[in-house]
Amino acid sequence: MSVNLDIKLRRGNKIYFEGETISGVLQIVCSSEIKHEGIVLSLEGLVNLSISNKNVGIFEALYNSVKPISLLNQHSDLAPSGKLPAGTTEIPFELPLICPKEPKILYETYHGVFVNITYMLKCEVKRSFLAKTATKTQQFIIQYRPTRAPEKKSEVNFSISPETLQKSAKERIAIPRFLITGVLDSTESCVTQPFTGSLTVHHTEVPIKSIEIQLVRVETCGCAEGYARDATEIQNIQIADGNVCPKIPIPIYITFPRLFTCPTLITKNFKVEFEVNLVVVFGDDYLVTENFQILLNRTA
Ligand SMILES: *[C@@H]1O[C@H](CO)[C@@H](O)[C@H](O)[C@H]1NC(C)=O
Ligand SMILES: *[C@@H]1O[C@H](CO)[C@@H](O)[C@H](O)[C@H]1NC(C)=O
Ligand SMILES: *[C@@H]1O[C@H](CO)[C@@H](O)[C@H](O)[C@H]1NC(C)=O
Repeated sequence: MSVNLDIKLRRGNKIYFEGETISGVLQIVCSSEIKHEGIVLSLEGLVNLSISNKNVGIFEALYNSVKPISLLNQHSDLAPSGKLPAGTTEIPFELPLICPKEPKILYETYHGVFVNITYMLKCEVKRSFLAKTATKTQQFIIQYRPTRAPEKKSEVNFSISPETLQKSAKERIAIPRFLITGVLDSTESCVTQPFTGSLTVHHTEVPIKSIEIQLVRVETCGCAEGYARDATEIQNIQIADGNVCPKIPIPIYITFPRLFTCPTLITKNFKVEFEVNLVVVFGDDYLVTENFQILLNRTA
C-alpha cells in the first residue's frame, strides 16, 4: 500500500507577486483505498537568519535575537478525516499571498548564506498512529512587481594606480607602477539585466596574470544589540587571462545568478546588499582589489 503526493501549481514558472492567489491541485495517488485523519495544506514564507561563528562569541544577545521571521503562515483544511479511493484523487486549492502582520511585505525569494528567504507549500495527509503521515513540499518564488527604471544612469569612472591604493608612501614605493582606468555603466542595476562596463590597462611594469570580477553579497543580521555583517563571494568571473594588451578596452559583463541575488534589501532586522570587486593579479602574485557598492533593483 502506498500514498504518493504531488503539489501541482497552475503557474509553470512558479513565480508569484504579492497580492496574487497561488492555485493548483493536490494530487494523491493511492495503490489501494486508505483511511486518513484529514488533509491539510500549509503556506509558509520564512526569513531564516543566522550569524557566522566569528560573531557568535561577540554578540551573545544578538545570537538570541536572530530568530526566523515569518512572512506567511497559513493552514487550510482540504478534507476532513475520511477515505481516499484507490487511484488518483485531485483536490484543487487557492490561497492568497498576503503578509498580514509585520513586516507586511513579502520579500523576494533569496538564497544566501546567513539570510534565506523561502516560500513553500506543504501538504500533509494525516494518518492514524499505525500509518505514517504522508507529506510533500513545493517551493515557489516571490518577486517584486517591476518598478520604473531610473531615468539617469549612475555611471562611475574609476582609475587604479599605486597612488589610489590606501597605502603609506613607503609601501607605495614597493608596488609596481601601473595604471588602469575604466567605467561601470551603472552602479544601480536590475537583477535581470547584465551589469556592464569596461576597463583599460594603460601601462604596467609587472605583467598582469589575471583580471577578475567578483560578485559579493553582504549579509547583515542584527538588532538594537548590535549586528553581524558578513561578505561572501557569489561568483568570480575572469575577464582577462595573462598579460593584457595595453590601451585596449576589456569589457566587463556580469549576469546576476537568479536565486542568489535579489533587489538590495534593507530592513529593521537584516540587510542583503551587493558589491562588485575588481581584482587584478600581477605576475608576482601581487593583488590589487577595487571595491564598488552596487544597488540592485527590479525594473521593467
Ligand atoms: C530555516 O531554519 C530552520 C530551523 O532553523 C530549518 O529547519 C530550515 O531548513 C531552514 N530553511 C532554510 C531554507 O534554510
Ligand atoms: C541558507 O541556505 C543555505 C543553503 O541552502 C544553507 O547553507 C544556510 O545554512 C542557510 N542559512 C540559513 C540562515 O538558514
Ligand atoms: C566618465 O568619463 C567619460 C569619458 O571620459 C565622461 O564623458 C563622463 O562624463 C565621465 N562620467 C563621470 C560620472 O564622471
